[in-house]
Amino acid sequence: MGSREQSPRSPDAIKGQPPRRQVPSAGWRFTRVPGSGTLEGVPLRELISAAAIAQRVAELGREIDGNLPPGPLTVVGVLRGAFVFMADLVRAIPREMTCDFLGVRSYGDATVSSGVVEITSDLQAPIAGRHVLLVEDIVDTGLTLRYLLDLLRARGPASLRTCALLAKSTYKDASAPLDFVGFDAPDAFVVGYGLDGRQLYRNLPGISALEGATLEP
Ligand code: IMP
Ligand code: MG
Repeated sequence: MGSREQSPRSPDAIKGQPPRRQVPSAGWRFTRVPGSGTLEGVPLRELISAAAIAQRVAELGREIDGNLPPGPLTVVGVLRGAFVFMADLVRAIPREMTCDFLGVRSYGDATVSSGVVEITSDLQAPIAGRHVLLVEDIVDTGLTLRYLLDLLRARGPASLRTCALLAKSTYKDASAPLDFVGFDAPDAFVVGYGLDGRQLYRNLPGISALEGATLEP
């Protein structure tokens, strides 16, 4: 009687649990994945550290903000690979924006492009009259980028720019230009920071090469 009931969110109510503000220890590696049909035993070699990515993403944010026309922006992330990069990138762009996503499948679970781009989920809002920044994880052949640029251009944005965390240095296509690039992509199949190999490794904080992986289904 007279005593206040504790809210379930009150820290006092969470007895015996570790404090919330814990971060995973640095330097974790998924070098083995248990279970058949996965990437068991395929060694990972880190090529770009989480710290190097964070520094470059902060620079990219400033570059993008300084070069885009003034006005509100729609940032369109290509799912699923770009979700981690986009989460960091949008926080480095200090202007009004909305965020939207396109679901795309071009590789399936293989390491070689199927040559066919399939839209698995469309934007939630129209982009007509908006400044649009398309955010990709990695551009290899450019097939996905070309397809998506054609799709978005047809919807009448006020401007349309592209950004990829990684791009093959050999990729140069004037019809589907990359305006902002984080790093030249290493000559390897890479995973981590959102990029997957057979849907695994997206949660690695840095970018790693899958060494000697044969991932064909
Ligand atoms: P593109 O159409 O050949 O340019 O390939 C682009 C898409 O393929 C990217 O959005 C990625 O999802 C995927 N991709 C290409 N190379 C890699 C890689 O090295 N690791 C993981 N995914 C990749
Ligand atoms: Mg992928």
